[in-house]
Amino acid sequence: MTTENIEHKIVHEARNAPVHGAPKHFFNSQPGPSYIKDMAQYKKMYQQSIEDPEAFFGKMATDYLYWDKPFSKVKYGSLENADVAWFLNGELNASYNCVDRHAFANPDKPALIYEADSERENRIITFGELLTQVCKVAGVLKSWGVKKGDTVAIYMPMIPEAIVAMLACVRLGAIHSVIFAGFSSGSLKDRIVDAGCKVLITCDEGRRGGKTIHTKKLVDEGLNGVDSVSHILVFKRTASPNIPMKAGRDFWWHEECEKQRSYLPPTPCNAEDPLFLLYTSGSTGSPKGIVHTTGGYLLGAALTTRYVFDIHPEDVLFTAGDVGWITGHTYALYGPLVLGTASIIFESTPGYPDYGRYWRIIERYRATHFYVAPTALRVIKRLGEAEIAKYDISSLRVLGSVGEPISPDLWEWYNEKIGQNNCVICDTMWQTESGSHLIAPLAGATPTKPGSATLPFFGVHAAIIDPVTGIELKENDVEGVLAIKSSWPSMARSIWNNHAHYINTYMKPYPGFYFTGDGAGRDHDGYYWIRGRVDDVVNVSGHRLSTAEIEASLVNNDCVSEAAVVGIHDELTGQAVIAFVQLKKQLPIEEEGASPDDLRRELILQVRGEIGPFAAPKTIILVRDLPKTRSGKIMRRILRKVASNEADQLGDLSTLANQDVVPAIIDAVNIQFFNAKKK
Ligand code: WTA
Repeated sequence: MTTENIEHKIVHEARNAPVHGAPKHFFNSQPGPSYIKDMAQYKKMYQQSIEDPEAFFGKMATDYLYWDKPFSKVKYGSLENADVAWFLNGELNASYNCVDRHAFANPDKPALIYEADSERENRIITFGELLTQVCKVAGVLKSWGVKKGDTVAIYMPMIPEAIVAMLACVRLGAIHSVIFAGFSSGSLKDRIVDAGCKVLITCDEGRRGGKTIHTKKLVDEGLNGVDSVSHILVFKRTASPNIPMKAGRDFWWHEECEKQRSYLPPTPCNAEDPLFLLYTSGSTGSPKGIVHTTGGYLLGAALTTRYVFDIHPEDVLFTAGDVGWITGHTYALYGPLVLGTASIIFESTPGYPDYGRYWRIIERYRATHFYVAPTALRVIKRLGEAEIAKYDISSLRVLGSVGEPISPDLWEWYNEKIGQNNCVICDTMWQTESGSHLIAPLAGATPTKPGSATLPFFGVHAAIIDPVTGIELKENDVEGVLAIKSSWPSMARSIWNNHAHYINTYMKPYPGFYFTGDGAGRDHDGYYWIRGRVDDVVNVSGHRLSTAEIEASLVNNDCVSEAAVVGIHDELTGQAVIAFVQLKKQLPIEEEGASPDDLRRELILQVRGEIGPFAAPKTIILVRDLPKTRSGKIMRRILRKVASNEADQLGDLSTLANQDVVPAIIDAVNIQFFNAKKK
């Protein structure tokens, strides 16, 4: 089908779709047949999901997923024992659920709408075409010996072929590990080695914002000295003429696919077989491979997409996140496709070639749902507000927000300027580990409050715990940390190769609960307000970063003896990374004729090169000494306060072994950060 035809079809279908808006009493928009019609229905279903999860999720799993073999038990295990399992003995295949059944019923229906970096390259892939492509790539992998349980690395930009590659893996029961294309070659290598991947799927080059990313070159650098990868499949994205291919290891996607048949039967998998790994940052230096399983994850993706977003089959979902992160996994791929809904795959950035880009996409495909991180909205609010009125974005019904807290004023702006007071704002709180939404309104049912993610999703037994006493605060109007009291289908089951770390991170802090790592409050209506991480995780532009990982990169520099990284509030990016660096010698570089600015630049480049550009500290502050406790632990709290211009609120310093360093740090921040900012 040509793009034009399908555009026409989408426009036609979307225009004629029934309106499923917010309830009249709340947004004053047209009432419509949303799946969950009001709070009474939500409460009833929520209560059943908590009190009788077996019946609730047993029925949901049968209604929304196709099982090759039915499950014999719905929910098993406990958080304490970290032995959670769902849909025991059931067998299914994720690619069959996301592709085949829709391809058989509706082969010409759009599955992936590819909005390329250059708008001239846009393309639409129907469910029928998707099935053929997935089967062919699965055939290639199979011919290379990939089988159930093997891990396959995918290092690709946000293009339809990344989705094809993921679905090809799961068709064979292989476990994909997508590595965000913004990661450096070193980060790529660490993740490939940790997961033991023998096969990698990548492309020649990427394009983002008109710039070229030398993807294959980064792969070659990363795999230098790694012999375990036997095969690399390379998709020709830009057709650049000078891509070196290593004979016997590197193969072109189009050439290999040509040799394959257009149908390959899916391999039935156990519900608890791993579906994918996704590496994420935690409190420790090395990233952890979060393990998601087939049945529970897929159900979580299906149910949240359906009920939170109130997605109907004729809708068009525009998730503006990258497939390298969990949002892309759950709401660009698995959620929409398992329901047979079209998903927009956006390769570019909101400002390229101009700030009208998002709105052109929505207008072009009559998108009904838009899902984005607040950081993108802040940029648009500042630089591109005038563009919005130029486009017809009246097809929108639901506007999602994800990745970081959305402030009430940005929420109001989103509602008014993008939603034109006619959409539901869904602030969705969740994590790589949760697999799907934890706390979010159900579009059409839940009255919203600007800045609150509202209420827990079905099966999520949310709790606020007093972090000092460890006791659950059962009343309303409380503040503490957010934990979950019982397992839910899409929760991560383990950390790859390190189940002990999984137990220590999530189950040990508050026995009997899963610990999210976030601070949160519950107001007098029982609504949740997420305050941000309480551990050493920083959230920059919706990207989750570990301070320990950045510190480890900084100390790799010969001049650096120690480093401490903190996150501070930033108007544009939510949080910004500030690095305090202690040098081995007092500014040794200066002696060689270079300036401290050169060293700062060098350190920033080092982090960009070792982790990825998105992890680069905003500022490097060179200090003589770092504040430490008697046991030698760096007190980051003090550094955070000073960098936030709150040096007058340092609190109790009595546990510091070297209190005299504090004035010097305040001076260093004033000179190197605040003065530099004023200039
Ligand atoms: C934060 C992203 C406030 C939170 C899906 C969480 C949020 C971390 C929200 C997970 C939200 C995510 N409001 N904070 N709506 N959504 N977060 O793993 O701190 O990249 O723990 O998953 O992002 O980040 P991750």
